[in-house]
Amino acid sequence: MEFTVQLKDASSHVIIEKGSHLHLKDFCQLDGKIMVISDDFIPKQLKDEVMAQLEHAVLVEVAQGEVSKSFDTYQMLLKKLLQLEFSRKDIIIALGGGVIGDLSGFVAATYKRGCRFISIPTTTLSQIDSSIGGKVAINLDGVKNCIGTFYHPETVIVDIDTLKTLPERHFYNGLVEALKAGCIQDTALFELFKEHADELNVDSRFLQEIIERSLIIKKNVVEKDEKEQNLRKILNFGHTIGHAIESLYHLHDYYHGECVANGMIMIEENEQIRHDLIEILTKMKIPLIRDLDVDACMNFIKNDKKASQGFIDIVKVNKISQAELEKIRINDLRKYFQGGQQ
Ligand SMILES: NC(=O)c1ccc[n+]([C@@H]2O[C@H](COP(=O)([O-])OP(=O)(O)OC[C@H]3O[C@@H](n4cnc5c(N)ncnc54)[C@H](O)[C@@H]3O)[C@@H](O)[C@H]2O)c1
Ligand SMILES: [Zn+2]
Repeated sequence: MEFTVQLKDASSHVIIEKGSHLHLKDFCQLDGKIMVISDDFIPKQLKDEVMAQLEHAVLVEVAQGEVSKSFDTYQMLLKKLLQLEFSRKDIIIALGGGVIGDLSGFVAATYKRGCRFISIPTTTLSQIDSSIGGKVAINLDGVKNCIGTFYHPETVIVDIDTLKTLPERHFYNGLVEALKAGCIQDTALFELFKEHADELNVDSRFLQEIIERSLIIKKNVVEKDEKEQNLRKILNFGHTIGHAIESLYHLHDYYHGECVANGMIMIEENEQIRHDLIEILTKMKIPLIRDLDVDACMNFIKNDKKASQGFIDIVKVNKISQAELEKIRINDLRKYFQGGQQ
């Protein structure tokens, strides 16, 4: 499947095809200098397969994990680009998960006010969600995605073959974003999870469909509301509480999808949906987090980008595929934490 995410001033061409990461030249114009940014846990074979197709590219590896969405790493990459005399016509390729996508995208967006940017997501999370939509960011003082902007990759190569080496916990972590997509806009996708959650793995016949359906939902939402004025906020189902949990655990004990999963369970008020979510997420081996420090979580929520003047928009799913936004007092969020941990 191929489609274009058409934005006001940019577009992303998305290729979802097995084997595509081995044929980059079929999908991307690769003239000019190229910097491939990856992390030090991503298998060497994957890096070699990509580098072998690029004549004059340099590979820069950063430390794996959220720690690399930092000012230091950001600055190090900018300095490398400058040393290598990259111009804005040259290309940055992100080869990795959401961390590498967010970091490389922010570098690409800001180096000389924006250079070319291509993304090859290699985790379920990045293939299902973060590689499109243009949100790029780094963290500041433990506040997630505190510095960032919108910058869309010109091409996104989604190849499920790259997932074969992904650790199982990361595999399921990423699928949470697809379950979220089902909850907010796609009953068939939610049903697929209900019926097959315990047989989803990298060889599953459903994996390609799950990725395609999720990305199409995101495309449609982002095209209608690129800068998250309104509709796009529905993609944040489970995220307000999820981000707070993520911050509470210093952005590393639990993964993004795992925190969002817990956030979805806590915010869900329809008993049947909540029951289904718990069942699906348990089958996907997602840890259900208990004994949260509610005061600490509430403090993080006050710092949430979506919070303003004591109020915050939260996403409610009272019926599958019918997400609604509700503006509530931040203090009223407290009850969801308590409800979620009973
Ligand atoms: N921009 C967005 O719209 C958006 C949306 C959701 C999440 N995010 C961000 O994405 C980040 C999380 O992304 P993630 O879950 O992909 O984490 P990640 O990038 O840290 O990748 C997870 C781990 O998998 C390893 N890995 C990656 N590809 C691999 C492969 N093919 N084989 C083996 N190991 C591999 C990485 O080295 C890393 O250790 C968070 O920072 C989150 O905030 C951004
Ligand atoms: Zn998310």
